[in-house]
Amino acid sequence: MTADIQLRPVESADLPIFYEHQRDAEAARMAAFVSRDRAAFDAHWATNVLGNPAAVTRTILAGGQVAGHIGSWPDEGGRQIGYWIGKTYWGQGIATRALAEFLHVVTERPLYAHVAAHNSASIRVLEKCGFRFEREESVEGEHAVVEHVVVLP
Ligand SMILES: CC(C)(COP(=O)(O)OP(=O)(O)OC[C@H]1O[C@@H](n2cnc3c(N)ncnc32)[C@H](O)[C@@H]1OP(=O)(O)O)[C@@H](O)C(=O)NCCC(=O)NCCS
Repeated sequence: MTADIQLRPVESADLPIFYEHQRDAEAARMAAFVSRDRAAFDAHWATNVLGNPAAVTRTILAGGQVAGHIGSWPDEGGRQIGYWIGKTYWGQGIATRALAEFLHVVTERPLYAHVAAHNSASIRVLEKCGFRFEREESVEGEHAVVEHVVVLP
């Protein structure tokens, strides 16, 4: 386990770090995510994340360093959550502790997460924080994948 975990609002200096996190090929495979180029990344964060008043996003600090981010946003399937931890910080309980803390920031329920069926680490993180399997969904297209939809009632 690492030192302390803190959540704080996202600062512009965090974005290049998040950009590199989502560019990592192994991480993208885990999340069944198509990495964005810089322009697409900047547009997504400006419009859908920081520019979306219904979205709640926090930077995860581990021992004072930017380790990743966690966020929540509404869509037609309910309020969603997602997170991404930089690879050098994996396996230290950071995602689990960040999610547990974030569940005090976003108190709306139910909360949903869509996680690739092969992403055992993320499924475990969600289970440890009380999420339960609801159903499987097949996503078609460029990043075709079977997802687990999990819910915190
Ligand atoms: C998935 C991810 C968030 C996990 O972050 P993390 O900080 O390493 O997670 P934690 O250390 O809190 O917990 C991981 C848990 O999964 C377990 N785990 C790790 N790899 C595993 C594997 N291959 N199979 C099963 N369990 C696994 C760990 O043992 C731990 O469970 P435990 O505490 O019961 O031992 C991180 O790898 C990541 O950001 N990946 C890329 C992006 C992504 O997948 N985001 C989530 C999209 S839904």
